[in-house]
This record gives sequence, structure tokens and C-alpha cells, in this order.
Amino acid sequence: MQLIKDASQQKLRGAYYTPRPIADFITRWGMSGNTQMDILEPSCGDGVFLESIAQIGKGFRHVVGVEYEAGEAAKARKIAPQGADVKNMDFHRFCLDTEERFNLVVGNPPFIRYQYYDEEQQKLADLIFKKAGLKRTKLTNAWVTFVVGSSLLLKENGKMGFVIPSELLMVKYAKQLRQYLASHFNKINIISFENLVFEEIQQEVVLLLCEKNGTDDHLIEHIEVRDTEKLKTLNPQRLKFPTKHIDFHTDKWTYYFLDKEELDLLEKVKESQMPTIARFADVEVGITTGSNDYFTVPQSVVNMYQLQKYARPMVGRSVQVNSLCFTPQDWRKNVESDAKANLLVFTPDASTDPNEGVRAYLENGERQGIDKGYKTSIRDHWYVIPSIKLSDALFLRRNNLYPKFVLNEAKAYTTDTMHRVFIHEGVNKKAFVASYYNSLSFVFAEIQGRNFGGGCLELMPSEVGGIRLPYREENAAIFDKIDEMLRAKKSSDEILDYTDGFILRQGYGFSEKEVAMARSIWHKIMNRRLGRETLEKKIDLNGKKEDMTKPKSPRVKQLDFFEILRQYPDSIVENSFVCEDIRYRDSKGNSDFLPQANKEEMEHILQKDMGKNCLISLVKKDNFDQYLDHTAKIYYTGKKFPSTVALNQLYYFMPYLKGKGIRDLYFIKVARVGSRKEGQSDNDPNDLRLVFEIEYIGQMFEEYKAFDLKIWRTFTDTTIGKIRENVQL
Ligand SMILES: C[S@@+](CC[C@H](N)C(=O)[O-])C[C@H]1O[C@@H](n2cnc3c(N)ncnc32)[C@H](O)[C@@H]1O
Repeated sequence: MQLIKDASQQKLRGAYYTPRPIADFITRWGMSGNTQMDILEPSCGDGVFLESIAQIGKGFRHVVGVEYEAGEAAKARKIAPQGADVKNMDFHRFCLDTEERFNLVVGNPPFIRYQYYDEEQQKLADLIFKKAGLKRTKLTNAWVTFVVGSSLLLKENGKMGFVIPSELLMVKYAKQLRQYLASHFNKINIISFENLVFEEIQQEVVLLLCEKNGTDDHLIEHIEVRDTEKLKTLNPQRLKFPTKHIDFHTDKWTYYFLDKEELDLLEKVKESQMPTIARFADVEVGITTGSNDYFTVPQSVVNMYQLQKYARPMVGRSVQVNSLCFTPQDWRKNVESDAKANLLVFTPDASTDPNEGVRAYLENGERQGIDKGYKTSIRDHWYVIPSIKLSDALFLRRNNLYPKFVLNEAKAYTTDTMHRVFIHEGVNKKAFVASYYNSLSFVFAEIQGRNFGGGCLELMPSEVGGIRLPYREENAAIFDKIDEMLRAKKSSDEILDYTDGFILRQGYGFSEKEVAMARSIWHKIMNRRLGRETLEKKIDLNGKKEDMTKPKSPRVKQLDFFEILRQYPDSIVENSFVCEDIRYRDSKGNSDFLPQANKEEMEHILQKDMGKNCLISLVKKDNFDQYLDHTAKIYYTGKKFPSTVALNQLYYFMPYLKGKGIRDLYFIKVARVGSRKEGQSDNDPNDLRLVFEIEYIGQMFEEYKAFDLKIWRTFTDTTIGKIRENVQL
């Protein structure tokens, strides 16, 4: 394999070795007491699986280990069972050339991205895929080739057990593999872990245990255990009888942890031909402004710059919608509270507008570099936002409990925080939106979407379109009641108690038991997402049920940078800093345009942005200089970053200087995934980090203040208001 110069050898080989209890478990499962087997370990490293096999017994027919690295292969030879054949070669070559077939394949294949394959290896991998009747794409990781290749080497009733990344269950590039496994194997068991078992690589893994038995059954089971310790007590016999039929029509394998009865109910819903949202409406992403902070403004900014001619009603944040219907009055309330309720829809001639305020606002934008943004710079006029369309309804892209869906009576525009829903002609709009508020649609929203770190559920437009919707025109009758309950802040369960009866029981004929089950499925899936804690319902003193569906404190895990990169190939957030009454100074004669606020101006910023998110991060002594003289422009996180930080809401940054504390406020212009040494000759593109492009704003405190860093003593994810509250002035 071609090794890219200077990159970490271990990473390039995808070499993170398996903890012994996992290797033991897979081996015990695979052999079930039978030593009369031909066994293959396709990427044996220093031989942990071979050692497990050796301990289970003697007298195997043939044990073969393959390992690319000569040194590792030599180590493996020493601990392999007697008579084992450890080959120092490329598995791709072995797979294509060998005539031998195996009863059992076990291992932990390398996790290597496509670009690290050399040309020869790409060709071999393509041949393996071709042999299996599959197609390889640029996203296909090495582990997929190893799994497919191994399956080709199995005997008729063979078994294979692997440790692989949990993305098998949901990513698009593994969809083909899921379908392949589902149709080629008769029993599939997935074992996942609540805690990370490969701490050092922040990789969530699952055990994939597949078995052929020559029947027509295609069954699957998903078991979740806490950690490797718990695995020791799991009896492999339990995996003999998976009970759930694989659903060949669904894309993901993320919810086979549900009970069989529960899966059957979902299957029944699908078979009942209950329509999806896409039958009634087209869903599109909201308006891409290129800089939400610049183009969406509160009324005070409209007035100050006399932007009335260009200001249009808009709704952009989850907190601004707490009803089923977003009315003109709701919008006015947002205007009155000086929320960002206006979208600036400039026309090409705005730059020559006779109104001085308009011109000043556009000039400010240029000084802040808004015109140089990724999206704005490709426009004919950077300030003219394309695709300005009003939609009938709005669907929030990222949500906590369940995705909010509202009728847009206010005729408000929305940015890309919400999807635009254009309802087809002839569909009763109120009935359409009301029909969504039921337990089954909430379940399908969970199934369609994905966990966007920190427990937040994210759905893209096509996924919204896939939500099952028990639409009936009669549902329009309960629209006002749902709206009223949402405004009265009734809990989601109280609202569902009302709507499920009308929409699902009366309207669709589901039994009471089925409706209760739908609710419990929703709780189960949502809860797993929200930190995998048990959902509790508390009875308060008045005997009233209280919704306790909010996560208490989601478990902090390490963020999977690869996953974030896949979701956000460009950037996670692009913020722009608008603080109208601050003098823009050119610090130190260079052309930086952002303000360096004096005390008074700082107070103004802080007052205005109390609710904005601020990440406090530890800075080690070697990096102090650039923070002491405020020249820091970029902050790289370490290899580990907590999964609970709301990345999409990052706005401010405060360095915590080790031994000193916090004092200075920076603004996060861009948060994205990058590599630690990007642009340098010794860059390792696999060494992913979060990268914050930052700009100094001013001192929040006169002196450095002590602060208790909450997550791993390295980070605190908080708001400006909370920092002010907690730090003694
Ligand atoms: C994730 S490690 C696992 C090692 C071992 N199976 C274990 O579980 O501890 C992957 C191993 O695959 C090896 N490897 C990488 N590319 C390979 C290839 N093309 N053929 C065979 N082995 C390869 C690496 O050197 C590394 O030892």
C-alpha cells in the first residue's frame, strides 16, 4: 500500500487493534465449541484474534492470517495457533487469488479512506466488488472491501464476525453493503456499545455477526451492551435466533433495537400504504443568504439604516415558533421584542439607493467581508439573495424533541434553518399540518433523520418528504386545538394524547394498543438519541403528568469528525458580526475590519448577545502569545472534541489560558472540519480537527477570571449571559 509521506503510519494502515474481550466474544460466537473449522483472519495485525482462536482449542483444520505489515505479521505468527499460516501480503491480492474457502472469517478490518489506496489496490478492490456484483464509489472505505471480500471466501454455511464502524448502520456509502449482507446472509446480529470501546480514535464501532444457513430466512437482531465488560456476560447462544425480518425497503439499519412487535407495527404502517409528506407537498431547503447574521436583522437595525424598502417578514429560529400556525401577530411580537424578524431582500440597484443608510449598510457588509463569502462572492451582486420564495409551511431542520412543523400564515421568509414546504393544490393546508402531530409521524421523523451530535435530530428535505402522514381532510378540525395547546406550552405527550385519538384511532382505525405502542416506539427512539437515557414521566404534586422528555444531561462522547465532515463538507457555521454602532478600526494598520470594542461598546455587544452561544476552550502555554496580543485567527481543537456541543450554534469563543483563566471575547467567523496542519507540507489529511476561524472583539473582563471548565476540564459550552452570571465581577 502506498504510504503518503509523513502521515501517521498507524492511521494509514487503519491499524487500531481490537480489545481482547471483543476478539474473544467474536471467536466464541463464530466457533460455538467447534474446532473442526477452516478459519481466516484477513487483516490480523499483531494477532489478537489468532490468540483468541489458539486459546479456544487445538486441532483446527486450517487457520490463515493475512497481514500487510511484515513486522506485525511476525508478531502474529508467535501467538497464532499451532500450524496456522500467517501470510505477509495484501488481503486484496489474497482474496482474488486463493482457492481456499472458510467456515469462519473473523477480524477487525482496516479503516482506510479511498485516497490512500494506490492505483494497483484500487484495481484489486474494484475486482472484488465486481465479483460480488457490487459497485465501488469514491466514498467506499477499506473496511467495506474487506467485508465484501471475506464474504466471497466463505463456504456454503459459513459465518463471519467483524468489528466495524457503526456507520455501517446508516451511511449512504454502506447502503449497497447492507443490501448485499441482507440478501446473502440468513442471520445478522449487530452488537453496539453505549460507551466508546476505541477511545483513542473516537470511533463508534459495532460487531457485525453474519451467518449463512441455506434457508430463505433473512433475520436480524440488534443488541446494545454498555461496554466490553458487559460483553463478557453476553451469551453468544442468544444470537442464534434473531427474530426480526430484514426490511429490504428501508435504507438504514438504525432501529432494529426495537422489539419485534414494534417493528411489525411499523411494517404494517408501511404496508397500509399510509402516504408520505411528499405526496402532498414539495420540500426545499430554506433561503441560503450566505450570511444569516448580515441579512437577517431586528427591527432596530431596519430603522437605524432605513432599510424598510428591502425588509421582508422572516422567521429563522426555533424559539420564534411555538405554535402550529405562525401568524402575522406572532411575527409582530418578534418584531417588538427586537428578534431577527426581517430578511433583507436587496435588489441589484440597492448599492445606488439614494438612501444613505442603505448604502452604509452595504458598505459595512463589504468591510466585514460578507461580499467575499463562499456563497455571496459567486453572485452577480453579492447582496442580492437568489431563490426568494414564500412557502405555505415551515419545517425546522434541527430539533430537540420532535421536528416542529408550522403553517406559515404570516407569509414569512425563512433561512436555511427551516425547510420550505410548498403544499400541492387541492390539499387542505390546515389538515395537512395538523395530520403530522401524531406518534407515528414522529416515529418516522426519527427514522428518516439522523442524530446531529448533542442529541439533536436533523432532517434534510428528502427525508422530510419520507415521513408517513395519516392525512385526512377532517384533521383540519383539530388544527386550532393543537395550536392552542402548543401556545399553552402543553407537553408533547398531552398533545399526542389528544391528537393520536383523533388522527390515528378514529381517523385511521389503529387500535388503542397500537397507538400506545407507537408512542412508546417514539419515546424509545427519541430517547436513545437524546443521550440514551430512560425516558421518565414525573407525576408532580397535582398529579399532573409532566413531560420529562428533555434530556437530563446527554452523555459526553467524542465527536466523530469524519461524520461531521460528511454532513458539512464546507462549513458547519459561517457567522458574521453585526454590531451597528461600533466604530470599525483598522487594528495595527492592517486591513482587518472587525471592531476591537472598547469597554462601552463591549457592554453593548454583551447586552445584545446574552443568549448567544460561547465556547470556552483551554489554550496551552505554548500557544499563549497569539492570545495575549489578540492576533489569534484560528483555533484548532485537539483530537478529541465533545459530542454534546451544539456546533450549529457556535458564535463566540473565549480562550481559557491555562493558569490564568478567561478574559477575552472572540467571534467565530467560521466553524468547520479541517486538518491540523492544513496547507503545510507535513499535513496529515486524516488528522481531523474542528477549526474555528476567529476574530478578536474585546475584553469581556478587565482581569483574567477563574472559570470551571466543565467537559474533560477542557471545554465549556455556554452562553454569554451565563458566563456573566457565573463569573464574579
Ligand atoms: C484495525 S487493524 C486490526 C488488526 C487486528 N485484526 C486486530 O483486530 O487487532 C487493521 C490491520 O489491517 C492491516 N492492513 C491494512 N491494509 C491491509 C491490507 N491491504 N491487507 C492486509 N492487511 C492490511 C493493518 O496493517 C492492520 O494491522
